[in-house]
Order: sequence, then structure tokens, then C-alpha cells
Amino acid sequence: SILEMEVEQINKGSFEHYMQKEIHEQPESLTTTMRGRLIRGGSSKGKNVLLGGLKDHLMSIRRSRRFLFIGCGTSYNAALAARPILEELSGIPVTMEIASDLLDRRGPVYREDTAVFVSQSGETADTLNALEYALDNGALCVGITNAVGSAIARKTHCGVHINAGCEIGVASTKAYTSQIVAMAMLALAIGGDTISNQARRDAIIDGLFDLPNKVREVLKLDQEMKDLAEQLVAEQSLLMFGRGYNYATALEGALKVKEVALMHTEGMLAGEMKHGPLALVDENLPIVVIATRDSCFSKQQSVIQQLHARKGRLIVMCNRGDAASVCPGEATRLIEVPQVEDCLQPVINIVPLQLLAYHLTVLRGYNVDQPRNLAKSVTTE
Ligand code: G6P
Repeated sequence: SILEMEVEQINKGSFEHYMQKEIHEQPESLTTTMRGRLIRGGSSKGKNVLLGGLKDHLMSIRRSRRFLFIGCGTSYNAALAARPILEELSGIPVTMEIASDLLDRRGPVYREDTAVFVSQSGETADTLNALEYALDNGALCVGITNAVGSAIARKTHCGVHINAGCEIGVASTKAYTSQIVAMAMLALAIGGDTISNQARRDAIIDGLFDLPNKVREVLKLDQEMKDLAEQLVAEQSLLMFGRGYNYATALEGALKVKEVALMHTEGMLAGEMKHGPLALVDENLPIVVIATRDSCFSKQQSVIQQLHARKGRLIVMCNRGDAASVCPGEATRLIEVPQVEDCLQPVINIVPLQLLAYHLTVLRGYNVDQPRNLAKSVTTE
């Protein structure tokens, strides 16, 4: 029954902390996010995505001039991870908005816009205020939420429930990966199928079906991430560089480490490295570079070379089998992850960084599930 499921969710079981439990249950939470929504296709029918909560608005969404992705914290990062695939499949520009910043600027929002509100709790005041603002301006408003019946779920015109199950740890983990998957499905639903993008769509849908298995594989890095945490436990700060699909991974990995392990960590766009951050590089500061396979791979290889030339202390995340292509020196530490379709790779890549943040927190002796000064749901401005 639903009640039994909920009781199961709020039990820590064999885990010591909710954050740890929620990291490890991602194969299951992702499965629930996708349940009943993907069509495998057959001899007569193509592969497809069905999002019941959108069906009455899909035509209007496809006609919009622009998408706005609006959220705070981890939810914003999830939207950033999904942005490239929505742009690719829809051909419509996607603008990213931190909810409070949109309101600070009273940025222009039009009737021809589709505004997508991403929120785990569905109750975040900044996001809710931005929703009221977008509704006043006549935009079509879509919610991507985890809490059924929440304010954002009720006040948007339509939406997608991510169905990740109850998330208790203040640091969002399983909701993040489910949000990305929900927005990848949104991109597939909006993009519609044309002959020209059929192969790409099929590959993404196959990739989604196989994603829980791949997450199960990447979770095996737990011990390795604990070892890495032991090496980094006394550091003052940490940098994370990503680009393209994995710019979001750098921001979200850094957010996890700073919010729970209370270690200064910055996620940065690798393309901006030479415009400032490069000055920070020396032989002491640890730097995580995300260099999994996608169209940005060769650019990330040259970023690694440049950091190595300045004696940077590198930790490189790459796909299995790519060690030789990303390792400039003996001292480079590797995090090898399974490869999936490029737009889904952020779901895999965040997992080792969640584990790293978790182990750093335990080793540093901080409160994992309730970091100081933070709240799960921020209902004040
Ligand atoms: C708070 C939480 C974060 C969360 C953010 C947005 O700051 O501590 O973990 O990402 O709110 O929350 P939402 O419920 O809107 O996704």
C-alpha cells in the first residue's frame, strides 16, 4: 500500500543517514520517475514518451517562443543539466533563471513564453513568487515537482511529478537525478518525433531504460570515494570544472560539498577557466575536472593539459577506458564512470560527487542530514 511505501521511505534501514540512503536508492527512484512513461516501441510503433500531466498543453508548449527554467539551489542545477537537450530537441531557446534574481530584476516574461518551475518541495517561497509573477504576465506555467499537492504543483497550468519518493536529507540527491530524467522526458515530449531526430530520440529512450542499471554500477565507487574523501578531508577548498552537459555537474557537485561537508568548493564553467580561475591553480589546490565523452571532450582534454602545465592537483572524472586520454601525469587521480547517452551522463556523473560529499561530511564530523543554517524547504523570501 501507499502507506507502507511511505513508512519504508522514512526508515533508514541499514543506512546511517538519510542522505546516504537516498544516494543509494537512486536506481529505484529513477525507475519510479520513468514508470509508465516510456514506450519501448515495437515492429509497428516507435519508441515514445507519455507525460499525462502535460497532454492538454503540449501543442501550446511547442508553439512557445522561449522556455524559462526557474528554480533555486539543486533544482536550478537540475534544470541547467537538462537545458542542452531541450534546446536540441525543441529548437526553442531556453533561458535559465534563479527565481529570486528574476524577481529582483522583474525580468520580462511574455504570453508566448513557457515558464518551467522546478522544485522538489513545491513550496520554496522564491520559486512560488516567481510563479505568481509569471502567471500575472500570462506565461504558460509548467511545474516539475516531487511533492504532490504542493503549492507549485497546484498553481501551475500543468506539470510532471518526478515521483522520486520522500526526500528527507536536507541536501537533495535523488530528487536531483529524477528532476534531470523528468526534464529529459519533457524534452522528448516537446521535441516530438521527426524523421531527422528519430535515431537520437531512440538512443535517449534506450538510454533511459538502462539508466538505473548504470547508476547501480556507478554506486560501486562508494569505497573509492571514501578513500578520496580521506585524502581531501583537511583541505580548505576545492574547485570543480565542467562544461556543456556537465556544467551543471560541477555546480551541483560543489553545492553538495559546500552545504554538507562545509568545505569551500566552487563549481566553474571550464570555458571560463582562463578568464580568471586559472590564477588560483597551484600544486596544493585540488581540482576536479569532468571529462566524460561528449562533443566537448577534446576541449576538456586541453583544459586538463593547461591545468597540468601549471602543476594543478588533478582529479579527473572520465569514462571507463579513457584513462590514457585524460591522464597527463602519474599523480592524476581518476574517477572512472560508465558511459551513457551524452544528455544523460550528468545523472551518472553526479553520483560519485554525492558520495564524496557524504564521506567528507562524516569524516569531518558534521551533521549529514541537517547541515548548519540550512533548511529543507525555504518558505520565506
Ligand atoms: C533549499 C534546500 C536545497 C534545495 C532548495 C530548493 O535551499 O536546502 O536543497 O535545492 O531549497 O528547494 P526546492 O524544494 O524548491 O527544490
